[in-house]
Amino acid sequence: SVPVAEGRGAFILFEGLDRCGKSTQCQCLLEHLTAQQVPVQKLSFPDRQQETGKLIADFLQRKIQLDPLAVHLLFAANRQNVRQQMVDSLAAGVTLIVDRYAYSGVAFTAAQLEAPHPRGLDLDWCKTPDTGLPAPDVVIFLRLSPQDAAARGQYGAEAYEKIDFQEKVQEQFDKLRDTSPNWVELDALLEQDSIAQQVSTIAAEAIQDCRQGKRPMQYLWS
Ligand code: TMP
Ligand code: MG
Repeated sequence: SVPVAEGRGAFILFEGLDRCGKSTQCQCLLEHLTAQQVPVQKLSFPDRQQETGKLIADFLQRKIQLDPLAVHLLFAANRQNVRQQMVDSLAAGVTLIVDRYAYSGVAFTAAQLEAPHPRGLDLDWCKTPDTGLPAPDVVIFLRLSPQDAAARGQYGAEAYEKIDFQEKVQEQFDKLRDTSPNWVELDALLEQDSIAQQVSTIAAEAIQDCRQGKRPMQYLWS
């Protein structure tokens, strides 16, 4: 029998440093859930199709220069612009597989701010523009050292792909992990299939809990 969406969909987020294999795992999970007839939709941020996303893409490809704090707001705007669609999809029982989100937003900007922050430009400032977005039910963090990431293909093509910077980003991700109870870390150096298997187990549990109404919708930054 075909499973029918009863409760809400689950919000499954993938995060990690550049080249950690998030996009591959998102695609694997999409195919896996689709085969199981779970209503599912994949999103990735930055969404380069949006007008804000085009500016972000030009910035990442070093075609235009933008102030780091302005870029931060663009990344957040790129998410806020689809906030209602995400809320509606989840409420309609659609599971969302999301490739990067506000955690990347905060980590990549906070990594650029000099500490201490005399003007209040700190982690909390970075979090503010994403306030009110739907919160993920699980954050799957694919952990890979910046050195191992750099050894992968095409590294350095975009603005943030530098080892020393990625180390700073990892430090910020670690701070976010410490305040996120639904954060799960997987070793990104494992075989793709082995990661995919762990991911499908984690996803199945989140989907079942959401479907059965065990997890109320939450919003950032709770
Ligand atoms: P991508 O490689 O997943 O397309 O992401 C592009 C780059 O943008 C990546 O280095 C991470 C960075 N980023 C931010 O700085 N802020 C954000 O909010 C997001 C979603 C990504
Ligand atoms: Mg990238």
